[in-house]
This record gives sequence, C-alpha cells and structure tokens, in this order.
Amino acid sequence: MGKILSISNQKGGVGKTTTSVNLASSLSYLGKKVLLVDVDHQANATTYMGINRANLVYTVADIFNETADIRDIIKRVESVDVDIIPARYELGNIESYLISHDNKDFILSNALEEIRDDYDFILIDCPPSLGIVTINALTASDSVLIPVQCEFLALDGLTQLLNTIRMIQNKQKHNRKTLTIEGVLLTMLDTRSNIGYEVINEVKTYFKEKVFKTIIPRNVKCSAAPSYGLPVTEFSPRSKGSLSYQNLAREMVELSE
Ligand SMILES: Nc1ncnc2c1ncn2[C@@H]1O[C@H](COP(=O)(O)OP(=O)(O)OP(=O)(O)O)[C@@H](O)[C@H]1O
Ligand SMILES: [Mg+2]
Repeated sequence: MGKILSISNQKGGVGKTTTSVNLASSLSYLGKKVLLVDVDHQANATTYMGINRANLVYTVADIFNETADIRDIIKRVESVDVDIIPARYELGNIESYLISHDNKDFILSNALEEIRDDYDFILIDCPPSLGIVTINALTASDSVLIPVQCEFLALDGLTQLLNTIRMIQNKQKHNRKTLTIEGVLLTMLDTRSNIGYEVINEVKTYFKEKVFKTIIPRNVKCSAAPSYGLPVTEFSPRSKGSLSYQNLAREMVELSE
C-alpha cells in the first residue's frame, strides 16, 4: 500500500514544487512507483514536469468536481517514469464551489484510496495557502513534508501549519489515517552567508530529529531546470541540487522501511 505524502507550507516560494518534482523523480530512480498530484492552481508542478496544459482533457479539478474517474486523469511523465495528476487554472474556482459541498474535506482522500495500491509513493504538491484544497491534501495524507527556506523569517507562519495538522488529525478519525510530520526539509541554503546557518540551528532547535539530514543548497540548475520542463535530476543529474534531492529520496526510503 502506497504512502501518501503532502509537501506543504503556506508560505510562498519556499521550494514545495521543486521538492515535489525532484523527490518524485529521485524516488522513481530508486525503483519506486510514484504518483505526483498537483493541487495548486498555479500548476507549477505540471509545468516543471513538461506537461503541455493546453492539451489536457482532464485535470485535478475533475476530482473535486467529481466529473472524471481518477484513472482517466493520470498522465505519464515519460522523461522520469513518474505518473502525474496535472492541474490547470480551473482549480482556481474550486474553493468557492466546495464551500457548500458536504464532506468537502474528504474528496481527494476518497479518490486517492482507489489507486493507492498502484503506487509506493503518492506526493501531493500543495499551494501556498491553508484553504480547502490544502485541507483535502493533508486529510488524504499519512505524512507531511515541510520545506523551510534557509532565509530570514523561515519559521514564520509554521505555528499555523502545525495547528492545522492537529485539526486534521482529529478529522482523520473518519478515514482511519493519522497525519504525521515526515520531516522538515531545509531548502535553498546559500552556503556563502551566515543567515542560512542561523536558520538551520533555529529549525533544528525547534523540530529536533524531525529535520532531514539532507539540506538542499541554492543551486542555479534547480531554477533553470523548470524552463526545460525537466526535474533537475534529469536536466543536470550531477549538479549539487540534483544530488541533494537524490540523497533526500534515499533518506526518506530508509525512514519508511
Ligand atoms: N535549491 C534551489 N536553488 C535555486 N533556486 C531554487 C531552488 N529551489 C527552488 N528554487 C526556485 O525558487 C522559486 C520557488 O521555488 P518553488 O516553485 O519550488 O517554491 P514553492 O514553494 O512551490 O512556491 P509556491 O508557494 O508559489 O508554490 C522557483 O523559481 C524555483 O526555481
Ligand atoms: Mg509551488
């Protein structure tokens, strides 16, 4: 049975999508069957994976609208042997649609349960908010990976995320899951400045053994890869960014065994 994992932090631009895409490809290199679910209306994970959004018949919005079977929405990312449930702009209207929906927090959870056995890992790339879509992602998940950027105000807003996690754990009595913190991932470390190392200390003091040993450095290949529609692990396999995401995948697999 596959493990369902949300990559979430309501703070914008901390490396959620970069982590989702590169962790997905790195887990696939380790022989794992991976599904990446894009639940952000910005659709960055879909774009970073090189999917042409204009040609999509179905997107993740069809899960929330209950207008397609989940198996019909899944696309294959040939370059890295990963399956993806893509997103597009239509997801932007979903929050207002779901407000009046009974059982609105469990739609994604119910859909993913149908295909859970087909995968080893299901990764959900969350939007920078704690709205209904993120609540759906967390409710569907066994664990959450929290990327934290090694910059000033790194921990800002995390209390709100931790409160949300507790709220979800209470709700999950209905779908027999218990959300845990998979780990806190330090991202975009600039090795030339002190502030990054100060943040590392601060985060380790707060989250202790929950912090991944792997730290993702700031690496220009990570920011260049998306414009080629490739994970950095494919675009520049030997770059520091790529190697660190492959280390993260190994660390995560060891934690799961
Ligand atoms: N390790 C890295 N080195 C250099 N640039 C990076 C790195 N990780 C991410 N970036 C760049 O930083 C920006 C934000 O990253 P990303 O899109 O992954 O963040 P996000 O948390 O998903 O953002 P949002 O909250 O908008 O969804 C992107 O331009 C990305 O290419
Ligand atoms: Mg993103």
